[in-house]
Amino acid sequence: MLLGLSVSRHVADSAGMSRFSKYYTERVLPVAIDRMCGTKAFRPHRRDTLAGTHGTVLEIGFGSGHNLALYPASVQRLLVVEPSERAVELARERTARAPFPVEVIGLNGETLPLDDGSVDCVVSTFTLCTIPDAGAALREISRVLVAGGTLHVLEHGLAEDDKTQRWQHRLDPLQQRLAGGCHLNRHVSSMLTEAGFDVIEMQRWSEGRPKSHTAMTRAVVTPAHPLT
Ligand SMILES: C[S@@+](CC[C@H](N)C(=O)[O-])C[C@H]1O[C@@H](n2cnc3c(N)ncnc32)[C@H](O)[C@@H]1O
Repeated sequence: MLLGLSVSRHVADSAGMSRFSKYYTERVLPVAIDRMCGTKAFRPHRRDTLAGTHGTVLEIGFGSGHNLALYPASVQRLLVVEPSERAVELARERTARAPFPVEVIGLNGETLPLDDGSVDCVVSTFTLCTIPDAGAALREISRVLVAGGTLHVLEHGLAEDDKTQRWQHRLDPLQQRLAGGCHLNRHVSSMLTEAGFDVIEMQRWSEGRPKSHTAMTRAVVTPAHPLT
């Protein structure tokens, strides 16, 4: 884990990240994301998303741990991947209060340091928008889930109406720069089905403003052809 962090920092430096953008990405953004993701209005949706999770759960893009207090009592152990060291620091108090052990096992969703079929459930909340290679992360999620295991998703993404979609495509480059690579125009339900997941539950709705940022999807899906 420590080696992984130092390698990722070296890559950021050698890619020529300016001091300001490094400071913004590593110190300012995790605090801003902590505030935005901590919005009370998200809580019922987070709770609905986590319903039914049990046993060993993997959370992709853990952030500052806003799901921790909302997991059901059936969860025994939480493994997390998160590239931001600062976000994990911000989660410290919530992690200490969790009624199950929480273990940071890696830095990104695209390469999971876990055996095939080793977790019961995977959770992704507001993270599939940001993972650079979300297709690779979904393949990894399929691989590490036990047969019959479930992926629980709460995400914003591409809206249903053309007008909002046009704004989302226009604003996407700016959003990526300001919000650490977050996309406004990913089609969440298509990403899941194209990655070979069967839908158990799926709900799409729009809530609040701006419309470009609030086209929501909540889903529970399972790999169509589980690895055995
Ligand atoms: C908008 S935040 C959501 C945080 C948290 N899941 C929540 O619901 O509050 C997106 C998170 O994805 C993380 N992230 C970025 N790239 C990632 C990757 N390749 N794999 C996993 N997580 C990543 C970011 O560091 C950030 O914590």
